[in-house]
Amino acid sequence: MPLDIVIGTQWGDEGKGRIVDLLAAQADLVARYNGGDNAGHTVNVGGHTFRLHLIPSGIIHPHTIGVLGNGMVINPATLIQEIENLKAAGVSVTPERLRISYAAHLITPAHRALDQAQERARGSGQIGTTGRGIGPAYTDKAARHGLRMEDMLDLDTFREKLEHHVHTVNNWLTRIYEADPLDVQAVVREYTHYATLLQPFIADVGKELHQALLLGKQVLAEGAQGTLLDLDLGTYPYVTSSTPTAAGALLGLGLGIVPVRAVIGVTKAFQTRVGAGPFPTEVFGKTAERLRGTGKNPWDEFGTTTGRPRRVGWLDGVLLRYAVRVNGVTELMITKMDILSGLSTLRLCVAYRYNGQTLQDLPLGPAHLEPFEPIYEELPGWMEDVTSVRRWEDLPTAARDYVRRIEDLCGVPVRRVSVGPERSQVVQVA
Ligand code: GTP
Repeated sequence: MPLDIVIGTQWGDEGKGRIVDLLAAQADLVARYNGGDNAGHTVNVGGHTFRLHLIPSGIIHPHTIGVLGNGMVINPATLIQEIENLKAAGVSVTPERLRISYAAHLITPAHRALDQAQERARGSGQIGTTGRGIGPAYTDKAARHGLRMEDMLDLDTFREKLEHHVHTVNNWLTRIYEADPLDVQAVVREYTHYATLLQPFIADVGKELHQALLLGKQVLAEGAQGTLLDLDLGTYPYVTSSTPTAAGALLGLGLGIVPVRAVIGVTKAFQTRVGAGPFPTEVFGKTAERLRGTGKNPWDEFGTTTGRPRRVGWLDGVLLRYAVRVNGVTELMITKMDILSGLSTLRLCVAYRYNGQTLQDLPLGPAHLEPFEPIYEELPGWMEDVTSVRRWEDLPTAARDYVRRIEDLCGVPVRRVSVGPERSQVVQVA
């Protein structure tokens, strides 16, 4: 049963899109299992940039089927726009090539309005949500009054459920948050139209994936966001509302405890995070500007979905070890090695200091990192531009040493590093 799972080991934006694109070349099905259009995978192929928020980037390969699992929350407007954009770029997106779980939840304009109103109301305690309705849609799911893709199959009851949903949220918006109510009928009209477009794509994807695995087909599960944003295992409450960790792949695709061949952890060569929350290895000033970039390049550290500058810092080996453990990572990929070129010294956090003690591991998970001071190891950097390197032995010695030290710290092999955003800019680690 060749199931591989790709996850982010940090706070998202590790560059999972490009590794999924790479591995999808061998996969029959590529399946997203969590989150919604708060994710932003970017894949560069032959000068064309694909920005995908919902559809698995694997769909760009002509032979792969894209799957949206039950663990996702789907904004149908974004989904339809993505289908159109892909078609315009020459990618075929038919109901045979894109399968959407009947049990995935819908995001509505009411969820988005509520998300933004709630975040405003948090004032100085803002979580830093993307305002895309993700949290409220998952809240409705847990409260057992969410709207699911399968509701779109019966337009009469769908209209009734939508009306009830928007009325309810309007009440909260006006009474609790002093925000404007939404036009109920406008939402109903818009969503009825989406339903007619999306009905042919709705399927029991858990069953289809299971059958595919039994037939020996290769399934690649694609996580969005990252381990430290996991609702249970991340830096709570500064987390997302879904399960980006590897276990979320089985639940979020409707699979049982089937054998998993590889859990591929994607790690940026340094650390970034969007929004609020603890970040022990955060840096400021010149080093931060250097790691973040100016925003001119698409890969600079500014959110693909929100445009917000990301917070940046040195790679945190303690958190990486934690991510390796809670995901059962079997191999790592280190991205953005090219960004470190030109730094004379690199710092790598190998432990924390707390109350005069050295901590190799988190005593109680990652939610309370504030008191910890990073203990850094300094490693020599490299000056060479590595963007055209394709062979491990052609990487500067210092770059190879950096990768080997990460392996030592985490106890799992680094199988690949990337040296630029293009599909070909990947080096297999010898
Ligand atoms: P989320 O699912 O939203 O967390 O994002 P992601 O992990 O899929 O990140 P994404 O694939 O969007 O990558 C972020 C950016 O980094 C994109 O612009 C990529 O093209 C770029 N990128 C990925 N790998 C590299 C690399 O090795 N070097 C450089 N310079 N850019 C890279």
